[in-house]
Amino acid sequence: MAPSDPDQSATPYADALRRHRDGLRGPFMIPGHSAGVWGSTDRLIDFMGAEAVALDIPQLLPGVDLEADSPYARSRELAAQAWRAERTWFLTNGASQGNRMALIAAAAFGDTIVAQRSSHSSFFDGLVVSGLTPRFVHPTIDPVHGIAHGVTAAQIDDALDRARDAGAKAAAVAIVSPSYFGAVADVAAIAEAAHRHGVLLIVDGSWGAHFGFHPGVPASPTQLGADIVISSVHKLGGSLTQTAMVHVTPTAPAGLASQLERAFRLTESTSPNSLLLASLDIARAELASNRMGLEVSLAAARRARELVAASSVLSLPDDDFLRHPDVIALDPLHVAVDVRGLGLTGAEAKARLGAEHGVFVEIASEHAVVALVGAGQGARPELLVDALEALASDSATDAAASPPAPRPPQPGEAVLTPREAYFAPSELVAADAAVGRVSTDLLAAYPPGVPNIVPGERITAEAVAFLHAVTRRPSGYVRGAVDPLVAHLRVVRETA
Ligand SMILES: Cc1ncc(COP(=O)(O)O)c(C=O)c1O
Repeated sequence: MAPSDPDQSATPYADALRRHRDGLRGPFMIPGHSAGVWGSTDRLIDFMGAEAVALDIPQLLPGVDLEADSPYARSRELAAQAWRAERTWFLTNGASQGNRMALIAAAAFGDTIVAQRSSHSSFFDGLVVSGLTPRFVHPTIDPVHGIAHGVTAAQIDDALDRARDAGAKAAAVAIVSPSYFGAVADVAAIAEAAHRHGVLLIVDGSWGAHFGFHPGVPASPTQLGADIVISSVHKLGGSLTQTAMVHVTPTAPAGLASQLERAFRLTESTSPNSLLLASLDIARAELASNRMGLEVSLAAARRARELVAASSVLSLPDDDFLRHPDVIALDPLHVAVDVRGLGLTGAEAKARLGAEHGVFVEIASEHAVVALVGAGQGARPELLVDALEALASDSATDAAASPPAPRPPQPGEAVLTPREAYFAPSELVAADAAVGRVSTDLLAAYPPGVPNIVPGERITAEAVAFLHAVTRRPSGYVRGAVDPLVAHLRVVRETA
């Protein structure tokens, strides 16, 4: 690790891009847009801005990212220090890439992974590429809000015992914290359980890049015993869309960092975008050195909660969430609002907020919408609450007319590993005929992108009905579907 107490306000990589731009006179190399120097990129500049085009430079440049002590290397060191990690990778294919990297790296340590079933679909893609056999732990479903929160240390302990008794060589435990709804799991206790069994803990911390940077937010999983932490910095951390980080912590086993490095090479482009990488450099500097930034967003989120609490038609589901044993805290920047008092479902409120008020919230459940306040942003909570309250007047009739939100199905029986099923001979069949067959594909209603059918699981009538109901909803989208209406599914071909 680099020397302690670094200046976290420094942005060495972003500064190096600017220096390169200032010295660039004759770009006879990629990118072909010539950074605008030859003046033939007017349409691109008109759209992107001249500065963005000028700073879009290729990899492997001396003084930028080539040398072992390059500004890029320094920027990654600063990020590792900010999150108290041993080493940090900058990703330009999202936390989705991070999940694939983590699982490929973990496969060097065993053949099985104990994982939260409500993980993001990219985690399941990681199962396909790594070949790890999952043993799932099912989160409790919140009966009021119809959403899955997290898992407990006791559940993980039990699953690891059962994996050992079945003769499996568990490599890792994988959990998600915080959840899409901001619910925080007891990472420290889960880390203890994983390490007692001699396995790694991977935390998909995609929704909590800002954790650990202010006393008003929960601690980062990097400080709670996790070995690998995946962080979708673009979600709430302030970097550009598609950027993320993977951290390996100082207490992780020897050899894990080099496996992650290999997995990074396997999954990353050889031409990661310099603007995206610089945005990670700047987001880290802001999180780690601008305490006021987080204070402003915490104040905005607090004000939003106050306004909701004072409303006669809205309420806060926070206490409902905290009643679940798998939730030990909530991220203050995820503001969940119970909209039942509007006579609308969460999905209806979300759709109408956007269409009628230009107010866009991140996600909706049956009874709630979740508004996010990005770290460092001073949002205007009044805008959200006023728009929500304005939906109340004529909503009762709409609510009666719309179908109830579909409930996620129970998983089907696992017959093959995700990798076996993915590469098995397959055929496309009509959705009705797919019931009882083994899926080769992963299908996940989005958001939240939690898989409803996993490769290797038998397709149930309940899952097909759920996915069809999702496609009928206004913003319904099923990731992994062969066709948008899920009329057909790909299944393992049966031999006669
Ligand atoms: C828990 C979780 N992990 C990973 C991802 C993937 O993140 P990205 O969009 O950065 O690839 C998401 C996306 O929503 C997510 O919710």
